[in-house]
Amino acid sequence: MEDQTTENEGAGTYEAAVERSKKLEQEIAVNPKKHRVLTGDRPTGRLHIGHYFGSLQNRVRLANAGVPTCILIADYQVLTDHDAFSEISQNSKQLVIDYLACGIKPSDDVIIYPHSYVPEANQLMLPFLTLVSNAELNRNPTVKEEIQAAGLKSVNAGMYTYPVHQACDILFCKGTIVPVGKDQLPHLELTRLIARRFNDKFSPNKPVFPEPQALLSKTPTILGLDGSQKMSKSRGNAIMLSATEDETAAAVKKAKTDADRNITYNPETRPEVANLLMLISLCTGETPESIAQKIGDGGGGMLKKMLTESLNETLRPMREERKRLESSPDYIRSVLLDGAQKARNMAIATLDEVRTVMNMII
Ligand code: TRP
Repeated sequence: MEDQTTENEGAGTYEAAVERSKKLEQEIAVNPKKHRVLTGDRPTGRLHIGHYFGSLQNRVRLANAGVPTCILIADYQVLTDHDAFSEISQNSKQLVIDYLACGIKPSDDVIIYPHSYVPEANQLMLPFLTLVSNAELNRNPTVKEEIQAAGLKSVNAGMYTYPVHQACDILFCKGTIVPVGKDQLPHLELTRLIARRFNDKFSPNKPVFPEPQALLSKTPTILGLDGSQKMSKSRGNAIMLSATEDETAAAVKKAKTDADRNITYNPETRPEVANLLMLISLCTGETPESIAQKIGDGGGGMLKKMLTESLNETLRPMREERKRLESSPDYIRSVLLDGAQKARNMAIATLDEVRTVMNMII
């Protein structure tokens, strides 16, 4: 018990999460089946190379290492800050196409599903909402930032409570690993808190939920082609996985560089050039320093030419697979329905346990 107290102290810090991530990687290498990865995206559009290098590659690695993996499409979450819902279904299917094209292989252990199709998981929302206070919801820094970024004049209660819904997403299948970026850490802390409080209150001798852990991505944040902010479709600084080779070349051409013709790698003083070098490095595996050295006086022109070529080379097989998948809508739909069925089976079993410990079985 004492051990646990020590672990929980400072559990919310970034440093603690980095330490835990290292330990997790070691555990996965030894016994992947002991864990379950839970990850997901909102279906607001197609994915870009920032998603690919920042998280998709990692998901593929974990799934291929044999870790059972649930990939959820957070369709309800779209409604927290978007009015538009006409494209949710279409976007969900495009997400599946992106996942499969990147190398996710659905199986008994690897599933993709929209969370709206798993009613028993959503029902966990009701007990979970009683385990957090208004003040705790108010404090969430990521929610505050999202409200600001979306310029919301009034905040719906779905926005305010979506981190609790995310706890349902993670806990219904007893997920133990959530691969995240730094901005999602506050949400994961809330999920851990809910798991702990639920167990303490309803089932102190036999915990129902594990406390999931963050697995931080090793890839540094990928900036957009403007070199000043995170890559995102809405900022118009992204290259989509689905872009054609010509579109990729045109986007790279517009990327920001600087006045110094001699290419060097220095993320502090030359963030734009460093970001482009980093992208080449992510494609080729060569270090950004040695790429910079090779380009030398070749300038921005050569840097961009190299980036276009390495991106197109890396993305070519995925783009071909994308096209093939786009012409098989029935298959895409069957992946989602099959994933939803498997997710539901897990959710039904968990809700049963939850009802039992809450003394609600009739
Ligand atoms: N909030 C995540 C995003 O905006 C999506 C998401 C929903 C999620 N539920 C989750 C991620 C559970 C990880 C775990 O992309």
